[in-house]
Amino acid sequence: MKTAENNSKLPDDFKSFKTEIKVASPGRINLIGEHTDYNNGFVMPAAIDKKINFRFRKNNTKNLVRIYSETFDAYVEFNLQKITKNINSWENYLLGVIDEIQKLGKQLQGFDCILKSELPIGAGISSSAALECGFAKGLNSLFNLDLAQMEIVKLSQRAENNFVGSNCGIMDQFASVMSKKDHFIKLDCESLEATFITAKIEHCKLLLLNTNVAHNLANSEYNSRRQECETAVAVIQQKYSAVKSLRQVSFNMLEEFKEEIGAISFKRCLYVLEENERVQETEKALRDGNLQTIGKLMYASHRGLQHQYEVSCPELDFLVDFSEEKTFIYGSRMMGGGFGGCTINLIEADKIDAYFEEVKKVYQEKFDITPTAITVVPDEGTQILDNRK
Ligand code: GLA
Repeated sequence: MKTAENNSKLPDDFKSFKTEIKVASPGRINLIGEHTDYNNGFVMPAAIDKKINFRFRKNNTKNLVRIYSETFDAYVEFNLQKITKNINSWENYLLGVIDEIQKLGKQLQGFDCILKSELPIGAGISSSAALECGFAKGLNSLFNLDLAQMEIVKLSQRAENNFVGSNCGIMDQFASVMSKKDHFIKLDCESLEATFITAKIEHCKLLLLNTNVAHNLANSEYNSRRQECETAVAVIQQKYSAVKSLRQVSFNMLEEFKEEIGAISFKRCLYVLEENERVQETEKALRDGNLQTIGKLMYASHRGLQHQYEVSCPELDFLVDFSEEKTFIYGSRMMGGGFGGCTINLIEADKIDAYFEEVKKVYQEKFDITPTAITVVPDEGTQILDNRK
């Protein structure tokens, strides 16, 4: 594979790019339900109005793929018959998608793609799922592959699991593809049944505060959390054979195995069971328009992630602690895998600017890092756009 560091290597014919298919693929937020997806539990994500934009065209070759990332000002080419892992991480999401499409027996031909992202990387808003799903959806249209929406979700997740090597659950890809404007999805990750709930948050907005840190523990700790939960399930299963995941484990059952599974696994599992309940309660509170309750559940979720699941970090905790003192912020919690990235805050809209100035100052003083604010709105999942615009 050839990788060029700057667009001086960009083929001349990219300068007059006649787009055949245009795709916008969103990042996602998660109101509540963290680290529950791979435990077959409940999550409540939504796609957002910040996206990765793709333009595709066929290039009349059998096997040549040419991709230009405007965001990284990087150009790559590769051969469809020689898909191998690359050292540059962003390309692997795309290579992984091609690999999974080919494994399904679908035929691709040479094509060109230009992409441009509005999504910060490592912020916990799943730029990776946006990349996979947008790419898969674009290829589906360009080559009439006849892939259903759910196949796009699943092959994108497999691309990340098998090719990139990150053992993620299904939440991010599901949200990126299936979301509806102005709605949260309550997703049952066991049955994959989705309930769409209107994001009725009245005078409030959803504000993401990016810590602008990404501690490199994230991947290894993610995998060890999965392992701790799976080990507990394996122990419980020996007595209760119907237990296939934490989803079938009740609080009483968990208590029964407290000694056997050990203190660490016990608190991880307890967190998951409690978080699943919080998602159910959040659904009710959203339907009732009860922002106070939603906010309390968000804080409780954060404290669980901080003390029981132990995937937070000082920067995230600081932002959540600071917001908890403010009456105009109903709820705040870390979002995504943890160890950095964003907090999601349910905040009165007219307070955002002043609050950000205040929190920026104290955060900078403490960590010598400037945080970033992103206001988001729940939006449509991955879309094919009119390519004339
Ligand atoms: C990452 C993963 C998701 C999910 C979250 C934690 O975003 O990709 O599948 O597990 O972490 O909720």
